[in-house]
Amino acid sequence: MAKKELRSHKSYGKNDKDGFIHRSWMKSQGFPDDSFDGRPVIGISNTWSEITPCNGHLRDLAEYVKRGIWQAGGLPVEFPSMSLGETQMRPTAMLFRNLLAMEVEESIRGNPIDGVVLLGGCDKTTPGQLMGAASVNLPTIVVSSGPMLSGKYRGKDIGSGTDVWKFSDSVRAGEMSMDDFIAAERGMSRSPGTCMTMGSASTFACIVETMGISLPYNATALAVEADRRRISHITGRTIVNMVNNNLRLSDILTRSAFEDAIKVHAAIGGSTNAVIHLIALAGRLGIDLTLDDFDHLSREVPLIVDLLPSGKYLMEDFHHAGGIPVVLKILERSLNTDRTTVTGQPIKTYYENATCFNTEVIRELEAPVKPLSGTWVLKGNLCPNGAIIKPNAASESLLSHVGEAVVFENIEDFKARIDDDDLKVTANSILVLKGCGPKGYPGMPEVGNMPIPKKLLKQGVQDMVRISDARMSGTAFGTVILHVSPESEAGGPLALVKNGDKINFDGPNRKLELWISYEEMAERKAQLEKKTNQSPFLRGYKKLYYEHVLQAHEGCDMDFLVGASGDLEERESH
Ligand code: FES
Repeated sequence: MAKKELRSHKSYGKNDKDGFIHRSWMKSQGFPDDSFDGRPVIGISNTWSEITPCNGHLRDLAEYVKRGIWQAGGLPVEFPSMSLGETQMRPTAMLFRNLLAMEVEESIRGNPIDGVVLLGGCDKTTPGQLMGAASVNLPTIVVSSGPMLSGKYRGKDIGSGTDVWKFSDSVRAGEMSMDDFIAAERGMSRSPGTCMTMGSASTFACIVETMGISLPYNATALAVEADRRRISHITGRTIVNMVNNNLRLSDILTRSAFEDAIKVHAAIGGSTNAVIHLIALAGRLGIDLTLDDFDHLSREVPLIVDLLPSGKYLMEDFHHAGGIPVVLKILERSLNTDRTTVTGQPIKTYYENATCFNTEVIRELEAPVKPLSGTWVLKGNLCPNGAIIKPNAASESLLSHVGEAVVFENIEDFKARIDDDDLKVTANSILVLKGCGPKGYPGMPEVGNMPIPKKLLKQGVQDMVRISDARMSGTAFGTVILHVSPESEAGGPLALVKNGDKINFDGPNRKLELWISYEEMAERKAQLEKKTNQSPFLRGYKKLYYEHVLQAHEGCDMDFLVGASGDLEERESH
C-alpha cells in the first residue's frame, strides 16, 4: 500500500497506455522491469559543467549518490540543471539564480520522482536549486561540491578570491610582477571544488549543514577526498529513507532552522550574499524573514572561525579542526537543538560527539577571533529599506566615518576614472557607485568592493568606506556598504548623491545618512529623471527579470516566484 502512495507510482504504476509510455522509454536505458515496481524514484539535480569549474567533478560524485540510492532500494535518475559559474558568467551569475530556481522547480514537479538530491556548489547554484525545490516541497537533500584544495604560492597558503584582490592591488601598486601574478593564478586553483575561503559557496554549504538539509561534514569535506564520496553515498541512502518517511523540505526548513543559520553565519564570518539567498529561500517557504532578523539574531555572536577573508585559515583547516559540528556545539546554548534534519534525528545528533582538534581555527566563545561579527543592517535617508555591512571584514577605524562622496554613475564610469591621477579623492573620501543593483546592472554583480584608487594605494591606503547598490564576493573584505535599497535604478536616494556631498556612516548606531537638507533632497528628487520602471530590454530573460525582480532587502527573487505551488501535476502528457 505504501508503495502505491508514492508520487512516481502515478506514472510508473499504471497498467495502461500511459504506464507503457512512462516505463518503456525509460527502459531504453537498460533498466530492468522491476526498476518500476513501486520503489522510490530519486531525482538527482546535477549542475555539473566544465564551465563551472567548481562543479567539474559532480558527474563523478553523482555515481556515489546513485550507489547509495540503489543500496537502499531506490531508483536514481540524474537530470541536468542550469550551471552557474560565478567566475565565468556575464554580466553576473546572480542574474540567473532565479532562472535556475525556475528550471529546478519545474523539472522536479514535471517528472515522476519522489525525492530529490540537489548536487551543486558554486555560489548561486545551491541557493537557486533550493529555492526551486522549496516551491515543490518533496523530500530533498543537498550534496555540496566541497571546497577545493588549499591554494599554494611560494610555499604559502593562498585563498580563493581573497588573495586575488590583494595580488591585483599589488600589481597596480607596482609591487608584484606579471610573472608572479600568473604563478599565483596557477597556484590558487589546484583542484575542482568551490572556493576554499569562507566565500559565498562555503558559507551557503555551512548554512545547509546547519539547517540540517545535508549530512554532517557536507560543508567542509574537500571536493576530491574520499569523505565527500562517502557523504554522497550515504546521502543516497538517506534520501530513500526520507521518501519512505515522507520527510519533506518544509519539515526541516523551519523558522528555527533559519534563525540558527543566521547565528552560524555570524560565527563563521559568512558571506553577505547569504543574506539575500536566505530571505529569498524563506519567501518560497512562506517564512517571514527580514533584513532586521540578521542584525538582531547575530548581535551576540562573535566570530569564532578563523578563515579568510575575515581571518587567516582555509576550508581544509576548518574541516580538520572539526567543521560545522564543532561550531554548533559551541553555539549550542543559543540554538534550537530539537529541530529535525534529513536523518529524521534532531540537529543535536550532528554535534553531540564533535571534538575540536584545532582551537586556533575554531575558537571558544570566550576567546573569539573578533568580538564583532554578523551583519549590520543600516538605515537612514540614503537607504530607506536598508543596506548591510560585514563588520568583521571591515577596518575598525572606519566603522564610524563621515566623508565626502566621490560618485561614479555606473561601472563604466568607475573603471574609466578610478585610477585617474586627477581624481579628487583622499583617504577620507567615501566612494559611491550607482547602477549596480538588481535592475541597474542587471543582476546585482559583485563589484561593491571597489578597488582603492591607484594614487591612494601608492600612499599606502588599504581601505576606504565604499557604498553601492551592488553585492560583493564572499571572499572580499573592506569597509564596504552593500545592497543599498532601493537601488539607484529604481529611483532610490542613492541616485541623488553628488560629488562632495557629506555622508555619515555610523555603524554602531546602524545609520547611513546623506547630509543634505530636506529641501535639497526634494529638489534633486524632482530633477531626477522620472523612473518609469520600463525595461530597457526588449525581449528574453533580462526583460522578465527587470520587470519582476524584487529589491535586495526582499531577496531579489521574482515577485511571481515567491511562495510555493506544491508537487501536484494532475494532467498526463499524452
Ligand atoms: Fe565557484 Fe567560488 S567561483 S565557488
